[in-house]
Amino acid sequence: MKAILCTRFGAPDDLELADIADPVAGPGEVVVRIAAVGLNFFDTLLVAGKYQKKPPFPFSPGGEFAGTVESLGPGMTGFAAGDRVIGYCTYGAARERMAIDAQKLIGLPMALDFKRAAGLTITYGTGYHALVDRGELKSGETLAVLGAAGGVGLAAIELGKKLGARVIACASTDDKLALARLHGADEVVNYGRDDLRMALKQRGGDHGIDVIFDPVGASLSEAALRAIAWKGRHLVIGFAAGEIPRLPLNLTLLKGCDVRGVYFGEWVRLEPAQYKACISRLAHWAAKGELECHIDCVYPLPEMPQALKRLTQRTAMGKVIVEV
Ligand SMILES: NC(=O)c1ccc[n+]([C@@H]2O[C@H](COP(=O)([O-])OP(=O)(O)OC[C@H]3O[C@@H](n4cnc5c(N)ncnc54)[C@H](OP(=O)(O)O)[C@@H]3O)[C@@H](O)[C@H]2O)c1
Repeated sequence: MKAILCTRFGAPDDLELADIADPVAGPGEVVVRIAAVGLNFFDTLLVAGKYQKKPPFPFSPGGEFAGTVESLGPGMTGFAAGDRVIGYCTYGAARERMAIDAQKLIGLPMALDFKRAAGLTITYGTGYHALVDRGELKSGETLAVLGAAGGVGLAAIELGKKLGARVIACASTDDKLALARLHGADEVVNYGRDDLRMALKQRGGDHGIDVIFDPVGASLSEAALRAIAWKGRHLVIGFAAGEIPRLPLNLTLLKGCDVRGVYFGEWVRLEPAQYKACISRLAHWAAKGELECHIDCVYPLPEMPQALKRLTQRTAMGKVIVEV
């Protein structure tokens, strides 16, 4: 079968398309025929050797997928050949078939196509865990989303609206903000042009911004934090801009606010029942058309390097999908 392999840390162009042996399902595992893989910014870090986890070589990138169960390990029950599934695996999905722990799979409604479904798990799962569990976002509160047209950013806008928040989308270009508006953003800030702190202070008014969803980092984090409300929550999602900011602690004192970390992978590992219930709910909403799962573009498996470059070059708007 065909697989994209990372044999040494480097750039997307260092990935190789290889022929490898088909996997066999071991105890507790099933083999999934992968139909589509959802790419995430952390795939680019994983391939570059800059992610917190460093898999042994050779490995395939690809942390989330949709596909069909093909075969089952000895004594396995709970799934049958032909079942449509989605899953999160950190890495390993950019190949035609993957043997995976059946506990990691979640059934997929018929109404949701593989390409939209492939980008649901990490993106919307992170958005939901961040806004509901960590951010305690309430109806009527104001939510600012940085990197608003990225994968997790768009998901946070949609989920924020679903939770009844007033959503301010913040991004670097007007095109990205137009897409954010199409996904429900009430107001927008172009931080490529305008000062983020001043723009959020103006939109937040005397009260300020209740919840900040921050997947970008660098200087934008402190700028946003300075506009937060009393008892606001600044959600640390990631550092797509490359720099991990150091925030002045006096701001948390003055605002009586919280800076809260969000780690999707550890949530999945430590609270698997909550995670699975969440993803089933999100898949149901997506199948009913209540979540967009917006696709930026679709690449065939051999073009995985080009697909990853959409993310490293900051050009993607929504999910980049690899069709297998
Ligand atoms: N904590 C968790 O559990 C968790 C889960 C999922 C993702 N994440 C993190 O969240 C971040 C976003 O992930 P994603 O998959 O949504 O990524 P994405 O689709 O590539 O979106 C990232 C956004 O960041 C902004 N950005 C600013 N500087 C950038 C740069 N130098 N290169 C690329 N993008 C830049 C871009 O928006 P503008 O151009 O508008 O600034 C872009 O739309 C990543 O850091 C990722 O690791 C964390």
